[in-house]
Amino acid sequence: MKLGSTEDILFQELKGRESQRRRSRDFVLGLGKTLAVLEARENQGMFEIETRGLVKRFGTRVVLDGIDLHVDQGETLAILGPSGSGKSTLLRCLNALTPFDAGRVRVGEIVLGAGKVPRDLAIQVRRQLGMVFQDFALFPHLRAVDNVALGPRLVLGLTHAQARERALQLLSRVGLAHRADAFPSQLSGGEKQRVAIARALAMEPKGLLCDEITSALDPELKWEVLEVLADLKREGLTLIVVTHEVGFARRVADRVCILTEGRILEHGPPAEVLEHPKTLRVQQFLARVLS
Ligand SMILES: Nc1ncnc2c1ncn2[C@@H]1O[C@H](COP(=O)(O)OP(=O)(O)O)[C@@H](O)[C@H]1O
Ligand SMILES: [Mg+2]
Repeated sequence: MKLGSTEDILFQELKGRESQRRRSRDFVLGLGKTLAVLEARENQGMFEIETRGLVKRFGTRVVLDGIDLHVDQGETLAILGPSGSGKSTLLRCLNALTPFDAGRVRVGEIVLGAGKVPRDLAIQVRRQLGMVFQDFALFPHLRAVDNVALGPRLVLGLTHAQARERALQLLSRVGLAHRADAFPSQLSGGEKQRVAIARALAMEPKGLLCDEITSALDPELKWEVLEVLADLKREGLTLIVVTHEVGFARRVADRVCILTEGRILEHGPPAEVLEHPKTLRVQQFLARVLS
């Protein structure tokens, strides 16, 4: 496994979560009642994702320049924008993969401020908000079913059999029950991406961040992945989808925002933003994407 690759980062993350789970198990047993109360309170609240005045710099370069976003529970937000406009950085700030410089991020009940995010808090955020990447980031040496079962086993403490059963259910949900024993190298790009979605869902997140997850796929394979997202939306999952698929955004998203040079230039229902963009900049961008 390549050091520093996305797979490696995910693996380190899972290992970290496992040791944290072990460390905290006794503590949790003692605090069972308190946690149950907290959980009950959390369940009453709606799961929303929000940023206020989010600023991210790399050196002196401002990459996110005061982003205000609000996504309601069950809503699908599509983020479009030219390459380098800060879309991936925004998603990474939302799920505590990248610290930011000013403003705040709220994921459900968890509020993140500027600066380094404590590891425990980052783990809590990522439990609520799964992420799927353009390059799939599957573990190449594990079969599809084991890619999906690994997290629940290491992090949620499921037994091998329980985790496998859940993984098979999820693979079936993304239409891949028949490919459970295949290795990633034996799967098509669309199948790999559907396994990656199943793997993210296995952690039972409340929301899913998708970063250009169809960009590496042949056109005829894109739809099978986009259909899975449309199904997840119908089932009530909160989705933030960075995409160049204008047709998908128009059909599935509740709202669309256009990010350019770290700022949200336009924001609103797809029919408004995509059919009647107000700014020349967005008109030109959409004309290029649609051509
Ligand atoms: N780790 C990093 N260090 C320095 N610059 C970065 C880093 N990550 C991203 N950038 C820069 O931030 C800008 C936004 O990047 P990114 O969020 O990946 O854009 P997008 O996803 O919209 O293509 C780009 O100019 C990119 O070069
Ligand atoms: Mg990107």
